[in-house]
Amino acid sequence: MRHLIDPLDLSLKEIDRLLDVADVIAADRMAFSQVGQGKTLATLFYEPSTRTRLSFEAAMLNLGGRVLGFASADSSSAAKGESVADTIRVISGYADICAMRHPKEGAAQQAARYSTIPVVNAGDGGHQHPTQTLTDLMTIRRRRKDLGHLTVGLCGDLRFGRTVHSLIKSLARYEDVKFILISPEELRAPDYIVEDVLWDKGIPFTETEDMELVMDQLDILYMTRVQKERFFNEEDYVRLKDSYILTPDKLEKSKKDMAIMHPLPRVNEISIEVDQDPRAAYFEQAHNGVFIRMALIMMLLELESPEGKIGFSN
Ligand code: NCD
Repeated sequence: MRHLIDPLDLSLKEIDRLLDVADVIAADRMAFSQVGQGKTLATLFYEPSTRTRLSFEAAMLNLGGRVLGFASADSSSAAKGESVADTIRVISGYADICAMRHPKEGAAQQAARYSTIPVVNAGDGGHQHPTQTLTDLMTIRRRRKDLGHLTVGLCGDLRFGRTVHSLIKSLARYEDVKFILISPEELRAPDYIVEDVLWDKGIPFTETEDMELVMDQLDILYMTRVQKERFFNEEDYVRLKDSYILTPDKLEKSKKDMAIMHPLPRVNEISIEVDQDPRAAYFEQAHNGVFIRMALIMMLLELESPEGKIGFSN
């Protein structure tokens, strides 16, 4: 049995396979409408979510499976003080696979230790968000045809933004990828990313506070929301929340085929005028989330697809 807790839990070959299958699904979703029959997904969400939870549920329903779960800690026994370990032991008897989002770093990892069904980390605090990364990789590959040879700008809250941590970890495995980390000093990416992933592995990167200065170099611009819920005081949040606002004029110097991405929800980071720009890829990115999660569920449950099994083969 396999879990997906960290983006590096998947080999490059497995990621390729997932992306290939997700592309096939995107082209003909109905061909997959029976493959999950009789299977149940549990969504255990201790933190707010729109896209991640609903795209997991849509993915399972599209496969012909069933879903159950809770959408907030308040409506589960967590409010009574139940531990993640006990909850997952019980849910293991109710479902075949589960997706868990939790405010505590390492919660999904902890759940996996006690689970008898595959656990997917749907976001653990400010740490990792591997399925958002799969969605991002799918979007980049469909736009750029390749996951290598890219200059990737990540902008905003690089400190608490788990999508950024997982994406850097993943893209750092591909050939000739450079990173430009754009953030205010206080929201710089943590050491376990900058030092352990980039510096130690000799991956080229620069850090700057100035988005416009580097705009012309970027193949991907990944905008992020300042993560209000992870701040200790309101004052700091208010001061930093509008650090970067992407407007059409700031895009003037950017490459014509740059992709503008955002895991969503956006607050003010991208003005709505940018939505009309062909470089805007964020809604497409959100839609891809369903296809890649269908592929992932099939892989983890070893479901037979019209194409055969999406097994794991390192
Ligand atoms: C992200 C998250 O939850 O980390 N949202 C998502 O899953 N698409 C980003 C965010 O909340 O800012």
